[in-house]
Amino acid sequence: MENKNFIKKLRLPIIQSPMFIVSNARLVIASSKAGIVGSFPTANCRTLEALDESFSEITAALGTGKDALPWSVNIIVSKMYARSNDDLDLILKYKPPIVITSLGNPKEVVEKVHEYGGLVFSDVINLYHSKKAISVGVDGLILICNGAGGHTGDLSPFAFVSEVREIFDGIIIVGGSISSGDSILAIQALGADMAYMGTRFIATQESDATDEYKEMILNATASEIVKSNKITGVNGNWLEQSLKNAGISTKDGGFKKTLSDLKRMIMPLIKQKLKVDFDISKVTAKRWRDIFSAGQGVGSISNVPSVEDLVIELEQQHTKSKSRIL
Ligand SMILES: Cc1cc2nc3c(=O)[nH]c(=O)nc-3n(C[C@H](O)[C@H](O)[C@H](O)COP(=O)(O)O)c2cc1C
Repeated sequence: MENKNFIKKLRLPIIQSPMFIVSNARLVIASSKAGIVGSFPTANCRTLEALDESFSEITAALGTGKDALPWSVNIIVSKMYARSNDDLDLILKYKPPIVITSLGNPKEVVEKVHEYGGLVFSDVINLYHSKKAISVGVDGLILICNGAGGHTGDLSPFAFVSEVREIFDGIIIVGGSISSGDSILAIQALGADMAYMGTRFIATQESDATDEYKEMILNATASEIVKSNKITGVNGNWLEQSLKNAGISTKDGGFKKTLSDLKRMIMPLIKQKLKVDFDISKVTAKRWRDIFSAGQGVGSISNVPSVEDLVIELEQQHTKSKSRIL
């Protein structure tokens, strides 16, 4: 696939980002048919047979070779992920137009995917890892910024995009709290090529999230997203209500009696910084499945449309936002 050219043919420059538990072949197909790029993590398929089936369903719907609609798969490149080599073999069999790597060194994936003409994007949370990925020839960098669903970054996109743009003229994709057409336009104004949107797609008809999860997304605002490294070992963003349901305290009670007025004013500001205080070994709720992840973009989500309708809605917001400022 030719670098960057595919973006111009999209309805909107969005990658519906890969999400553990949530993404599936249906979501990928619906996204790519709606004019954006669908993706899913290989780890969502419990077995290699299931992964083979998903790939075959997707390629049957989206085509193969030069005529395929763009779609993507996310692979964890790490010795900690036992299936990494086998998943890569299946990727080479089905040749997704874009492969997204997480965690380790993407060098081998870059070499092999380039051989069949695919593009490789790597997700990064700082300049150090961006430079490493650039040095092995990735086509795109996915800058995971502050407020992202799943494992989050800490940097502001204002800072991160300009630092990376100075050293990289490939495709820059930005992830973190992007849930509206206005935000997509904003990251384009910063110099990015595409938006990486996860949380917004949890609340769609095609996602595998439960109704309880979708409902919690609809009801939450940014200040009800708690950042903690206690759930998985690295910083992730979690819906406060699901932490509470799992019996996990977010340690905000101390302000209640004596400083209630002050609390109302400052809690939304400081909640992001509060540490979650609990012993994970005593928690029986399953992370991801019962303890729900979401990014700070939850506040602008108020419906559970089909992916097709969502892309129309995002396009209308994007157009309106453009006419407001241009
Ligand atoms: C529930 C959930 C599961 C996720 N699982 C993965 C995953 O398996 N692999 C991955 O690379 N990123 C994963 N992510 C991160 C997303 O791909 C993406 O970086 C993030 O959703 C972008 O931020 P946003 O949610 O604020 O839009 C996950 C995010 C969420 C919300």
